[in-house]
Amino acid sequence: MNLLAISDLDRARVDALVERAIMLKGRLERGIAHRPLMGKVLGLVFEKPSTRTRVSFESAMYQLGGNTVFLSSSTSQMGRGEPVKDTARVISGYVDGVVIRTFGHSIIEEFAGYSTVPVINGLTDLHHPCQVLADVMTIVEKKGTYSGLKVAWIGDGNNMANSWIEAAALLGFELVLACPKGYWPDRGVLEWAEARGGKIRITEDVEDAAAGADVLNTDVWASMGQEEEREKRLEAFKGYRIDSDILALADRDAIVMHCLPAHRDEEITDEVIEGGHSAVWEQAENRLHIQKAVLEWLLGCVEGA
Ligand code: CP
Ligand code: NVA
Repeated sequence: MNLLAISDLDRARVDALVERAIMLKGRLERGIAHRPLMGKVLGLVFEKPSTRTRVSFESAMYQLGGNTVFLSSSTSQMGRGEPVKDTARVISGYVDGVVIRTFGHSIIEEFAGYSTVPVINGLTDLHHPCQVLADVMTIVEKKGTYSGLKVAWIGDGNNMANSWIEAAALLGFELVLACPKGYWPDRGVLEWAEARGGKIRITEDVEDAAAGADVLNTDVWASMGQEEEREKRLEAFKGYRIDSDILALADRDAIVMHCLPAHRDEEITDEVIEGGHSAVWEQAENRLHIQKAVLEWLLGCVEGA
């Protein structure tokens, strides 16, 4: 079993992971040790930079009693062109699970095809499932449930947007995405969601997306790997920002989400990210807790978790 995308899960699994993560968070806060992964090793293979994903997975593994090995492309043979399929077969002989952060989604699919241990997506150009699981957990904590909510996505139809689309289709909440033309989410992901009857709509109108929303969500205008497009994107995304005017259109108890890192005064204003509706720090912290639930499940220690 792998976690390459939200579509690898079903609703019961997402609910179980969120419930378990909230329980593990409580245990940690009460100082109760829980080390079901003693002796297990998690490999982290990262071809892009990371703060949250790396530190939260490493801390999660240590808190569960296991260890981690970190490998970047620049310091491994991967950076010198060793084939993915060779790397996968070798690394999975040493570790009990692997988190991969890379570019094309086909790279992680190929790795998973040759790996003998579970593979977890720590971000590809197409998906970021661990972040969206942490976000769903944050919504459940803050709102009690995701059912019946309107979630708005404002900005780029990127990897985060794609994973949100899969989550909306799987969990049944309404998702309205405001993206400029030419920057819409992945067509295959949209078709997958549509076939499942997802309540998903795309517009170019930010105000339409934000109106009455329970959750306002955004992400950077230029993702990792798109640095050369930055100037063009700064122009294309003008206005696709969560500021206090957009926040005022949302539900009065709306929460504002951003997976971070944020570019203040591009996709979100400093006032909003630092304001009372912002849930970004909880989202970031919840990466730790939800990934502990994922690791327990995939590294094979807790029945039904
Ligand atoms: N949100 C997120 O995945 O952050 P990092 O790039 O720092 O891991
Ligand atoms: N869309 C962003 C998310 C970073 C966590 C990127 O891929 O760079």
